[in-house]
Amino acid sequence: MSRSILFAANWKMHLSPGEARTYMDRFLEVDAPRAGRSLAFFPPAVSIEAVARALVGHDHAVVGAQDVHWEPKGAFTGATSVSLARSAGAAAALVGHSERRHVFGDTDEETRRKLDAVVDGGLQVMLCVGETLDDREAGRTDATTARQLTSALDGVDPGIDLVIAYEPVWAIGTGRNATPDDAARAHRGIRNVLQDLGFAGETRVLYGGSVNTGNVAALLAQRELDGVLVGGASLDPDGWAAICAEG
Ligand code: 13P
Repeated sequence: MSRSILFAANWKMHLSPGEARTYMDRFLEVDAPRAGRSLAFFPPAVSIEAVARALVGHDHAVVGAQDVHWEPKGAFTGATSVSLARSAGAAAALVGHSERRHVFGDTDEETRRKLDAVVDGGLQVMLCVGETLDDREAGRTDATTARQLTSALDGVDPGIDLVIAYEPVWAIGTGRNATPDDAARAHRGIRNVLQDLGFAGETRVLYGGSVNTGNVAALLAQRELDGVLVGGASLDPDGWAAICAEG
């Protein structure tokens, strides 16, 4: 079976609705859809609807939320529920992104509650895991990802629409990517845990952390990688199209 590669763009706190429209016009002009390749865009919440509108008729691409709250509604100033994200056009959501865990202090338990809410709301889950530099230097890469995966997925129906993104914290926004071999090794550890938790081999496992036009081909040459989750290098539509052309 040939693998299906997923290219996911996490715009973080960049690109307003107007900028998102301009971006998508340009991206869709220069990108050539390919069989066996799919795309996902994670804009800021206010720009989800603009991206969703731009993607009408482009079935190989989805738009998603960068984060959600686990409650369906209520007095949670600044938060976005799954149903609000979905009504703006989101078909997926990131859960447990490194910046949620390490900048905003989301715990494993809160990450699990968010994952459950995304599943209940019928969106695709893109669960992010990854170790800090301290974990890595102490030889705790696999133990960290195993803990994050187990706390998020233990007892979850293996039939859910799930993608895993392995993003080592030390590689995010630093220009320092994991080597292809290191990424492949971590992915094998993740795959083993997924199997123990009952998730079939079809679950895609992406790599993220300083992916760019110069390193994406070498990373994707590793059979263990089913795609990439890209921050900074996804903010320019021509650069992102060049990365997606590696699929
Ligand atoms: P960078 O590609 O900017 O390192 O960000 C990676 C990331 O966090 C994607 O979710």
